[in-house]
Amino acid sequence: MLDRSPRLLAFLGLALGTAASSSQLITRTGKTYSCKCYPGDDCYPTPDKWHQLNATVEGNLQVALPPGAVCHNSLNGISTFDAAKCADVRANFEDEQWTTDQPIANLWTYWTNDTCVPTTDPSTPCTRGFYGDWVILAKTKQHIKAGVDFAREHNLRLVIRNTGHDFMGRSTGFGALIVNTHSFKDASFTKKYTGPGTYRGGAATVGAGIQVREMYRLANQQDPPVIIVGGECPTVGVAGGYIQGGGHGPMASFYGMAADNALAFEVLTASGHFITANEVENPDLFWALKGGGPSTFATVISLTVKTFPEVPSAGVLLDINSTHTNDTELFFKGVAAMHDLSSYFVDHGMFVYWELEPSRFHVQPIVGPNMTAAQITQVVQPMFDVLDKAGVPYSTSTKAFNTFFDLYIDLFEDESAGNDLLTGGRIMTHRDIAQNAAGIVDAYKTTLDNGAFIIGHIVGPGGAVPVANNAIHPVWRNASSFSITFKPIAGNAPLGAKADAQNVITNVIGKALREAAPYGGAYVNEGDLEEPNWQTEYWGAHYPRLLKLKQKWDPTGVFYARTTPGTEDWEVIDGAKLCRKV
Ligand SMILES: Cc1cc2nc3c(=O)[nH]c(=O)nc-3n(C[C@H](O)[C@H](O)[C@H](O)COP(=O)(O)OP(=O)(O)OC[C@H]3O[C@@H](n4cnc5c(N)ncnc54)[C@H](O)[C@@H]3O)c2cc1C
Ligand SMILES: *[C@@H]1O[C@H](CO)[C@@H](O)[C@H](O)[C@H]1NC(C)=O
Ligand SMILES: *[C@@H]1O[C@H](CO)[C@@H](O)[C@H](O)[C@H]1NC(C)=O
Ligand SMILES: *[C@@H]1O[C@H](CO)[C@@H](O)[C@H](O)[C@H]1NC(C)=O
Ligand SMILES: *[C@@H]1O[C@H](CO)[C@@H](O)[C@H](O)[C@H]1NC(C)=O
Ligand SMILES: *[C@@H]1O[C@H](CO)[C@@H](O)[C@H](O)[C@H]1NC(C)=O
Ligand SMILES: *[C@@H]1O[C@H](CO)[C@@H](O)[C@H](O)[C@H]1NC(C)=O
Repeated sequence: MLDRSPRLLAFLGLALGTAASSSQLITRTGKTYSCKCYPGDDCYPTPDKWHQLNATVEGNLQVALPPGAVCHNSLNGISTFDAAKCADVRANFEDEQWTTDQPIANLWTYWTNDTCVPTTDPSTPCTRGFYGDWVILAKTKQHIKAGVDFAREHNLRLVIRNTGHDFMGRSTGFGALIVNTHSFKDASFTKKYTGPGTYRGGAATVGAGIQVREMYRLANQQDPPVIIVGGECPTVGVAGGYIQGGGHGPMASFYGMAADNALAFEVLTASGHFITANEVENPDLFWALKGGGPSTFATVISLTVKTFPEVPSAGVLLDINSTHTNDTELFFKGVAAMHDLSSYFVDHGMFVYWELEPSRFHVQPIVGPNMTAAQITQVVQPMFDVLDKAGVPYSTSTKAFNTFFDLYIDLFEDESAGNDLLTGGRIMTHRDIAQNAAGIVDAYKTTLDNGAFIIGHIVGPGGAVPVANNAIHPVWRNASSFSITFKPIAGNAPLGAKADAQNVITNVIGKALREAAPYGGAYVNEGDLEEPNWQTEYWGAHYPRLLKLKQKWDPTGVFYARTTPGTEDWEVIDGAKLCRKV
């Protein structure tokens, strides 16, 4: 309907109070949208401007290429084939650390649209799909600022990326300028925090590029060794999406969520200013950064978190699979024997990581922080009593370690990259477990019956001390179990098949879990992008405040991540362009 002539755009630009050259208007089904600028739009930066940007970032701007491009002859007319690099990509595509170290790769590829997969046939087509167009491999704070400023000034889709871990597609974006923070690996430790507030214990300041296992390792190298609340996954980032979405992990039932332990953030704001957010400086931003959503309020440059003295720890493993039984009823009695004790475990400060597929229940590990082998054996005995009484066959083992770090390295398994999955999930509370433990296990059965599998966490940051004032969903304080559901589906599957898989995740499996655990909620980092009422499901009563803070700190939407505060007006049009309703 709308004519895109420069004159009309100039007029509309004036009428809307925006510079005509800085956005593109389009209409769809009677609604008008103002879009980010994409190649071909008048407002898209000229080659000269990109050249200038490259100079500003000291040569660290690259044309973004999907990792698989080197296995294909060309991408948009750029020749890309390189036999040696292709062999490297093919050998490493499922390697987590390798994937996180690439400029724009995504750990899980569904949200890249799988349009340029590694192949042995270079003549097959390669397009960018939902990968971005440009990437700044930032080496200094000024490089990050140059990228954010450029994106703001030219109204470009901006993506901040550290590890590419986000399996909800939030570190990739069609036509985006990506700012890669992965080289910000600085870390420093102090035995006595001296910043604002009353806390005077140990603290660590880590850069935006640090990953969980390397942080744990650095903490372990301190004298005496310390621990930090981080994720279970070795390669997940710390300062980015993880802590900004809340961050659970093996010590979370003992010391709270990662976001409960943040002391300060050094950030770059949407307007391009470097500021500190802590209890005294910009306390509203500090609050929002602690769980209010990834890539929503600011770009984090570095993060200061509490450290704690190391503790001896013990772990128990449990397996029930087709080696033990093919009787489905017996198998689910085994699942229930563990899961029914969720609240009991977290009330003992424990964490459990488990995987559930048809005929495979793999519990590795049950973590007992500050426990000896004898202590954990005693605590888990009620689970074995139930298993034995029901006649469920299983395998188990118990191991004790001098430190949590030793346990972490020994018992937590690496995960693989390159998966194609759609996700959903549910936080379940003490009350849900008390009232409907059996119904929850039935919902797990429904999940498996619908071609999905589960990665589960018995985690309860509520009893942990001290309970921080932050933006994570208050329902986490009552949590005892959090499960993620995964439905395999290729990113390049026909649109109808994608819609069907999404429907199963949201309206079959998601519905079953919501009904089974009505007092729970959902986790922004590991949830369903189509979660009904995502605002309340992700943040509960905190949402209105988060919305106001988004309007205050990023009114024009420099930062964007799907289903985060203030994104209600934004829509991806034609599966590609990011636009805001006007
Ligand atoms: C295998 C696997 C294991 C996981 N394990 C855990 C776990 O144990 N506990 C847990 O809570 N979660 C876990 N997650 C989920 C994880 O918290 C989210 O995927 C999180 O968003 C990853 O953050 P990242 O910065 O590493 O990833 P990225 O993909 O690099 O970024 C994720 C989001 O954060 C934004 N972001 C990144 N850096 C910055 C920054 N410096 N400033 C502002 N925004 C930024 C990005 O724009 C994007 O929106 C896991 C995910 C996977 C795939
Ligand atoms: C940016 O500059 C570097 C160094 O001169 C060069 O190698 C690189 O190709 C340039 N990037 C782009 C996108 O032109
Ligand atoms: C993404 O993939 C779907 C098929 O699953 C396709 O219809 C669509 O055109 C693709 N979009 C892009 C930008 O690659
Ligand atoms: C279960 O079935 C599989 C496959 O048929 C078989 O290999 C396995 O031995 C069976 N397990 C038991 C406990 O009978
Ligand atoms: C660990 O347990 C011992 C008693 O077994 C207790 O004295 C100590 O305070 C505990 N440490 C922590 C960090 O909870
Ligand atoms: C079942 O669990 C045991 C570990 O206790 C393992 O050795 C075995 O490989 C598993 N079997 C299957 C089929 O997963
Ligand atoms: C937590 O549980 C208590 C007790 O059941 C309840 O009163 C409170 O409303 C719950 N909080 C949330 C946020 O659900």
